[in-house]
Formats: sequence, structure tokens, C-alpha cells
Amino acid sequence: MAPLLTALSLSLAAQLATAGEVEVLHWWTSGGEAKAAQALKASLQAKGHSWKDFAVAGGGGDSAMTVLKSRVVSGNAPAAAQIKGPSIQDWAREGVLASIDEVARADKWDELLPKVVSEQMKYRGSYVAVPVNVHRVNWLWINADVFKRAGLKPPLSWDDFFSAADALKKLGITPLAHGGQNWQDLTLFEAVVLGVGGADFYAKALVQLDQSSLTSDTMERALATFKRLKPYTDKNAPGRDWNLATAMVIKGEAAMQIMGDWAKGEFVAAGKQPGKDFLCVAAPGSAKSFSYNIDSFAMFKLKNEANSRAQKDLAAAIMAPEFQELFNLNKGSIPARLGMKMDRFDDCAKTSAQDFASSAKAGSLLPSIAHGMAVPSAAEGAIKDAISQYWNSDRLSARDAMKKLAAAARSK
Ligand code: GAL
Repeated sequence: MAPLLTALSLSLAAQLATAGEVEVLHWWTSGGEAKAAQALKASLQAKGHSWKDFAVAGGGGDSAMTVLKSRVVSGNAPAAAQIKGPSIQDWAREGVLASIDEVARADKWDELLPKVVSEQMKYRGSYVAVPVNVHRVNWLWINADVFKRAGLKPPLSWDDFFSAADALKKLGITPLAHGGQNWQDLTLFEAVVLGVGGADFYAKALVQLDQSSLTSDTMERALATFKRLKPYTDKNAPGRDWNLATAMVIKGEAAMQIMGDWAKGEFVAAGKQPGKDFLCVAAPGSAKSFSYNIDSFAMFKLKNEANSRAQKDLAAAIMAPEFQELFNLNKGSIPARLGMKMDRFDDCAKTSAQDFASSAKAGSLLPSIAHGMAVPSAAEGAIKDAISQYWNSDRLSARDAMKKLAAAARSK
């Protein structure tokens, strides 16, 4: 055998001998999400390991988290799971997560990640999770052609939004695409709170869960504004998946959607171009703020050595610049890793990266409550239900809803 071939087959043999399998739990099943998940799978396979897909469909991940709990309780945790925000700490406290400090130290993650990101990935100073991206939640997505035909400009304030919505309704176009699932209701509501109350109010009410902010006139106004949106959604909204709501905007059946930038992944997967086919602007009144949602993978303790090696290789691969670029081009988000070149990214992503940095300085970089970033999961779940109940009720007033919201925030 030629020496080169011998060397190649030897290294292949060595790789196979240490090859492991990583089972990865996620909920990325829509068009853009699936492409991003594929990038993750490819980066693991490139290291010679195999990927065991554990996809649990359901936007926002509530179903995935339920399935995860039962798997961990039965002693059969996956190697990696999409776990975010304060929940990372909850899982770590249970003693089921593995430290990936060895990888983090070798690759200097502390220097590569913004503090707001790295702090969430650690439990008692040790890395137990690795971030793939930063999503911005407070976006308004617009079908450019529909707006042009209607002679409208992207609304910057809620007043502008409602007058544009009236004009669209008269033309027979659904102004706002929405999917009536509780996490989508809360996604919409948090954008309204940010626009109506501003960053400081959002932080007090929806992060610190301060009772007097939750029961203030500003909250009543935010609740009333949120409910005013409902007549601008269509009658088939209840239960609709978020990506089907995005598809309505892509096809021009609806004009706008308020959703995190995973929606951009859908536009891009459908071959649409920002600035030409669709527009991205901050949700009304929230241009100076940034509500963030960081996707990350927490690593579970494993017994098999090859699998645990593969798990560490996955963690290292996720932080590699090539992966952070490719993944986020498909996912609609921006890289979690600092110092990345943004030239292959579109203007929505560039705006997002700039606003992420400027809002961090201005104190208006805020964790998304609807996406598991802001409060413990018990309070988040109860708030989600209170907001959806109000959205779906013909009887509850903004005042009634405020009381329910304040009570939900006390859930432990
Ligand atoms: C979010 C998640 C995103 C996105 C979205 C819809 O919670 O962080 O990555 O996929 O749900 O499923």
C-alpha cells in the first residue's frame, strides 16, 4: 500500500475506534430550523461520530421539555439537549449535567463569548452547556409587496401599526399572522410590553416580576394594546403553528408577523430575500431594545467513554466559527461567538448584531420571558396560561387579566 494511503487508513481506523454516538434532543423541525439542525449534525459527523436524532416537534419546545423530563427520570438521558436560560441551572442542580470545562478551557470560551451568554452556560463556574446562537425576539416581519401595493410604510409605533392594520383590513388582507398557541401569545405580548412600557418597565414587570409593575396603569395599557391586536388576526389562528403563520406572510395572505428571527429562517428557506421580498423592523416602539433568546445545548452525564468523547467533540464543533456562521445563516439568528465576520449575513442579522451590542451598553438588552430566558419555568408557564386565557376570552377585561397575571407571577 502507498504510504499516504496507509497513513489515511490508519487515521480512519483510529477515528473509528474512538467514534461515539451523540443523541441530540431538539425541536427544530420547520424548514429553516431543519436546515440549521442539519448543519449541527454535519459538524458532528465530520469528526467521525454518529448522530442520533431525537426531534420532538412543537414550537417553543414545551413538548420537547416534557419528553426530556421523562427520559431523564427513567435514567435514559440523551447526550445533549436543547435547554436554555435558567433551566440550565435547574438541570445542573439535579446533578445530571456533565462539565465541559476541558473543552471550554482549551478553546478559551470565556474570551469568545459575551458575559450575558457565558454566565448562562455555567453552573457554579463550570460550563455545562454550549451556545449556538442569539435570537432576537422583538421583530416585526413584513411582506414587502403587500405593503407596497397598500402604499404603506413599516410601522414604527403602535399607532402606526393600528392605522396600517386598518388599511390592510379594508383591502381584505389579514394584517397580522398569528398562531394561537400559548407560547406564541406570550411572544406577542412581550413585544407589546416592550413597545408600550419600554425597557425598564419590561425588566421590572417581566424579569423581576415586581408586583407593583405587574399591576400598574402601564401594564393595563399593555394588556389592552395586546388585546386590540386580536381582530387583526384571522379566524383560523387558534392552534396554528408559528411557521404556518410565517408562511402566510411569505405568500402574501397576511401582511405581518411579530416573531423572533427564527421566522427569518423560514423566509430564507423559501428563497425570499430581506429588503426585497420581506422587511424586518423592530416590533413597534421597541427599536432601542433587544429581547434575546439564546439557544444552547446542555450536556448530560454519560457512562460510555466513546460517547462522552463524541459529546465533547460536539461541544467544540458548535463553538467553531465555521459552524456558528453556517448554522446561523440558516437559523435566522446571529452567532453567539464574539468577533465573527458578518459579511455573509443579511441586513436583518447585521442590525441584530449592532443592536445586541448597543442595547447591552444602554441597559436595554433583555431576556425573553416567552422563550425561557427570564424567569423560573413555573412562573413562565403560569404567565403563559394567564395571557392566553385573556387573549382567548370575550369576557376578561385588561384589569381582570392584570390580576391573573400578577397571581401567575407568584407561582413557584
Ligand atoms: C424557540 C427556540 C428557537 C425557535 C423557536 C420556534 O424557543 O429558541 O430556536 O426554534 O422556539 O420553535
